[in-house]
Amino acid sequence: MVETPAVFLITRWIYRLLRTMVLAPFRFPVAVSTLVGPVVTVHYLGWLGLALGVALSGAGLGVWWWRWPLSFRSLVVLRALAAWRWFWVYRRHWQPVLVVAGLAESYQERQYLPQIRRVTCSEWADRVRVRLVAGTAPADFENRVVELAHGFAAPSCRVSGLGPRDVVLEFPRHDLLAEPLDALAVPDEVDLCALPMGLREDGQPWRMRLHGTHVLTVGVTGAGKGSVIWSAIRALLPALSDGSVRVWAIDPKRMELSYGRSLFARYADSAEAAVGLLEAAVDDMQERAARYAGHQRTHVATPEDPFVVVVLDEVAFLTAYHPDRDIRRRAENAIATLTSQGRSVGFCVLAALQDPRKEVMNLRNLFPDKVALRLDEASQVDMVLGEDARDRGANAHLIDPDVPGVAFVRLEGSPVPVRVRVAYVSDDDIAAMATEYGPSHGLRSVPGEGVA
Ligand SMILES: Nc1ncnc2c1ncn2[C@@H]1O[C@H](COP(=O)(O)OP(=O)(O)OP(=O)(O)O)[C@@H](O)[C@H]1O
Ligand SMILES: [Mg+2]
Repeated sequence: MVETPAVFLITRWIYRLLRTMVLAPFRFPVAVSTLVGPVVTVHYLGWLGLALGVALSGAGLGVWWWRWPLSFRSLVVLRALAAWRWFWVYRRHWQPVLVVAGLAESYQERQYLPQIRRVTCSEWADRVRVRLVAGTAPADFENRVVELAHGFAAPSCRVSGLGPRDVVLEFPRHDLLAEPLDALAVPDEVDLCALPMGLREDGQPWRMRLHGTHVLTVGVTGAGKGSVIWSAIRALLPALSDGSVRVWAIDPKRMELSYGRSLFARYADSAEAAVGLLEAAVDDMQERAARYAGHQRTHVATPEDPFVVVVLDEVAFLTAYHPDRDIRRRAENAIATLTSQGRSVGFCVLAALQDPRKEVMNLRNLFPDKVALRLDEASQVDMVLGEDARDRGANAHLIDPDVPGVAFVRLEGSPVPVRVRVAYVSDDDIAAMATEYGPSHGLRSVPGEGVA
């Protein structure tokens, strides 16, 4: 290997030093004036002048903090924090972490090292804007989120593109999902494409679509599948009472859904009744599809043509574990028909499952949306969330059993899985929901659909 002549190296260092000195007042005006200001003050006004200046600045900041705490926090506290995090966490560890993570080529060649352009802090996370090296892609970072999170001691890392050559890495400073979330308020208006379900790790609300899709929730026993089902039903309550949405529930364990039975237009707990319910849903769906054919291409939920959500707890009980082959076959056929044809005519299946392996549930690909709660094995992550989900940081098999309700989901329009926590709807909440929205109160009774 040919050594770079020392004269070139020294010239380059001098150039970089000069460039940093010239640019520093523009890039870091607050830091530079904090450092230079006292020196200039002492030079012209002496130590007394400096003491007076410090006292006046302190008083000014105190008044700012007292009168306008929000702007003080965002303009002073979070900016100071960002400068500190840039210097102490990211700049200091940047090169080693990127090289070890396989995102930079070598320790020597700076031009092959993606550059930090900016660090900003919000209340809960750091956002690091990075200029990519030409010839690399945002996906290279997306596939290294676990290493990046670990390297910068964050609970997770989320990557989003920004323009053609930049990415933003978002590192939460603390885990917002560590504490359980109480049941969310019942919304005044129901948006079937964005039902409030819980919280995302970036502090934003997690909303889930039901209209135009089917959702499969997978997790080991105790992972919180019941919370997903009940949070969705809770978010639907106003639409249940005005009749534009109906929930048909199948509860093989007779535990999960029986508590709020009066909220359901149909309810089944035995296998025979469950298959009957699924086949009735298929009949209704096909009748509606025949009516729409040639007249209407999309479904709008109304009391006359309601959006039907078939809630199916422990789907494997019907498709895999039931001893009667005929029941298994009929259930599988009905679920396959509903999931493959129901989306556009206002039928949705919201199913829960413990074991996602193919021999247990070979219909999982018919569910466009999936929620991966705590899983048993690493290999199950990709089975649920799709190929490369684990490489992109969806470590559902590592979710702590002490935080039930934490899950990974893929949000619309983004391939990157996001960690969420679903709100916990307690038995008392369900009882209150049934009392307030059950048939004798808000919920419309439906002719021919007696609550079973
Ligand atoms: N979102 C949540 N937040 C906090 N705690 C939760 C949450 N969801 C569930 N839990 C706790 O975990 C327990 C088990 O939850 P849940 O019954 O929903 O699990 P599951 O996945 O449905 O299990 P199974 O497969 O056995 O039915 C609940 O009794 C509750 O104590
Ligand atoms: Mg359950």
